Amino acid sequence: MPGDKSISHRAMIFGLLSVGETRVTGLLEGEDVLRSADAARALGARVERLGEGHWRIQGVGVGSLMQPKETLDFGNAGTGSRLMMGVIAGHAITARIDGDASLRKRPMQRILDPLKLIGMQVVDEAEGGRCPITIKGAETALPIHYETPVASAQVKSAVLLGALNAAGKTTVIEPEATRDHTEKLLAYFGAEILVEPYGLNGTGRKITLTGQPELKPKPIFVPADPSSAAFPLVAALIVPGSDILLKGVMMNPLRIGVITTLLEMGASISIVSSSVEGGEDVADLRVRASHLRGVDVPAHRAPSMIDEYPILAVAAAYASGTTRMNGLHELRVKECDRLAAVAAGLHANHVRHEIMGDDLLVYGGCGTVEGGGLVETHMDHRIAMSFLIMGLSSQKQVCVDDTSFIATSFPGFMENMSRLGADFNAIETDQTA
Ligand code: S3P
Repeated sequence: MPGDKSISHRAMIFGLLSVGETRVTGLLEGEDVLRSADAARALGARVERLGEGHWRIQGVGVGSLMQPKETLDFGNAGTGSRLMMGVIAGHAITARIDGDASLRKRPMQRILDPLKLIGMQVVDEAEGGRCPITIKGAETALPIHYETPVASAQVKSAVLLGALNAAGKTTVIEPEATRDHTEKLLAYFGAEILVEPYGLNGTGRKITLTGQPELKPKPIFVPADPSSAAFPLVAALIVPGSDILLKGVMMNPLRIGVITTLLEMGASISIVSSSVEGGEDVADLRVRASHLRGVDVPAHRAPSMIDEYPILAVAAAYASGTTRMNGLHELRVKECDRLAAVAAGLHANHVRHEIMGDDLLVYGGCGTVEGGGLVETHMDHRIAMSFLIMGLSSQKQVCVDDTSFIATSFPGFMENMSRLGADFNAIETDQTA
């Protein structure tokens, strides 16, 4: 299983922001993370690959970033670009941030707004706060109090990273708890940070960070990415007779909403062994083919399974009964409009479904999906992987138009799945058709 993408990006950032040598093992060597490695280099770090997943970062420390000489190109990566904007915001340097056609469509205003409060200026931006964006970091970064309007770990993390170079305490409030890797790494690298429950039922978070710490380099172990694990996991559930073991999957409670949901659907997923590695719970999961039942997925679960709705929709297509996924508005601003892309993919493969406002309803085929569709992936790795998995058990083959973006998060996906018995064929397409 590939290393976790969220932690891998952050490993580059924390390596850059601490003085001395950070060693990383299990790093995801996907294209998104390699762009963050390039950005860390451009900002002054020495970043070297020592072996597979094993990297060494010689950082410069908070307050000592170098002025990048060229545009920082983050490719397809929302996380890399947004978190690095946070890092830059607290430093008196100017940087131009850009990416591919998918990243250029994604909203950045949600990051720019709080970072401006810290003292960052937007020198130039494409229409509507999109990339390419040139930002000028604060001469003197200011501590702020910020309540995130959307449940987004990227927004929260950008603010915390921006506030790292501000003297004093910064508070970030999030309406629903989102993945907490930035907070955990800040504490692990020696920053003073306090995380408290927030809101009426305590499901939000109030995070208080004391700025200008000296971050001390620490070894980072990157566990397997639960978002990537979801693909073989659902594959095993829908292909009759499957019985697989997924090793070392990170079980951070803020990341495993999809496992909770699949268990509710009747999935046979059992924890064979568990341990704590690099500060995270990890587990070996045994997954066996299962008869799945449709369920209602509550909107408040979205932050803990935000990237897993496309593959959950595939599981739902094979389930009996209706699965209703509530509150999917954030899916519209991922690598593509995932709500629309999932619906189009379901349609192409004759899976009955409906979009009602922000909710997606999938009417399951009781173990049967007709297939036969060509799915447009819109430069989105998770759309490509989800529909390839759908094709493993469908009556007719499922085609996706582009597999190249899979390498952003899961290099080796085709090989791994082929070893489990998947049969993928490249088809020559007529570009004019
Ligand atoms: C991520 C946060 C999520 C997620 C993304 C990774 C992170 O995005 O979709 O793949 O590492 O912080 P949002 O914070 O925009 O929901």
